[in-house]
Amino acid sequence: MTRHFLVDTDLTPAEQAEVLDLALELKVKPYAEAVYAGEGAARRTVALIFDKTSTRTRVSFAAGVADLGGVPLVIGSGDSQLGHKESITDTARVLERMVATIVWRTYAQSGLEEMAAASRVPVINALSDDYHPCQLLADLLTIREHKGPLAGLTLAYLGDAANNMASSYLLAGSTAGMHVRIAGPEGFLPAESIIAAARLRAAETGGSVLVTTDPSEALTGADVVATDTWVSMGQEDEKAARSELFRTYGVDAAAMALAAADAVVLHCLPAYRGYEISAEVIDGPQSVVWDEAENRLHAQKALMVWLMKSSRAPRTSRKDGE
Ligand code: CP
Repeated sequence: MTRHFLVDTDLTPAEQAEVLDLALELKVKPYAEAVYAGEGAARRTVALIFDKTSTRTRVSFAAGVADLGGVPLVIGSGDSQLGHKESITDTARVLERMVATIVWRTYAQSGLEEMAAASRVPVINALSDDYHPCQLLADLLTIREHKGPLAGLTLAYLGDAANNMASSYLLAGSTAGMHVRIAGPEGFLPAESIIAAARLRAAETGGSVLVTTDPSEALTGADVVATDTWVSMGQEDEKAARSELFRTYGVDAAAMALAAADAVVLHCLPAYRGYEISAEVIDGPQSVVWDEAENRLHAQKALMVWLMKSSRAPRTSRKDGE
């Protein structure tokens, strides 16, 4: 069976821990797992499809594929037939015969699901409107490095609580057994279905979930404080209105004073100093955002290795209708 990574909960708690363990190993020995090279590799090329702009995700996947002995093929928005001249399913059925893994940053989660349904090679969500699960693997790796075992730690996320990062914090954090607190204004809170899925995971792992409009309720005593831009891709015209709406959810020195004294600060970047996070905090001693950015590379390499090893090796061809 081919394993895909479209949403944080595609990994069980034990599988998530395995990926993070492997990421720590690969950080020390970057070339230890050449899954895209040598006799054992079915194929060497990995398709990296980007329908939206990216710095970290694009570079970390490209570098990561190269470290694993493979060849990254970056396909930018409008470079292929996908989305205008050819369906997602037909694209998947072509790509799976040529590449070892498909990594896709796109808009609709349903598109990723359609790609995965038609592909016998792993499909990885490199950010969708709904989730950013690869970012969360890097975040969890960073927390583990700075705070130790994840289970039992409290993470507070402030800001746009209806965006993809908030949903992924809920799902990945609860999978790791963390106490996840999410704070945002009324109307910008996570969907009930996401909260329910996170609570289900938390019941399994000993974690917990709190969703509130009160930033201080989320922040008090937190071990980790996280935020994200208030203006996601495609929302640029709403910048002024959204900045006013989220103003009391900024991560500044006053917010950090409520968290644990040794709390660390995460931001997936790019950051807008003076909006969701102050310069004093992101450039201060509690910030671990540069480690977090670097860990995209190590976490995604571990994910690609894990998915390749966990998936049935693709055959070179298949009969029509198979
Ligand atoms: N955090 C993140 O996904 O960065 P990019 O948009 O630059 O890839």
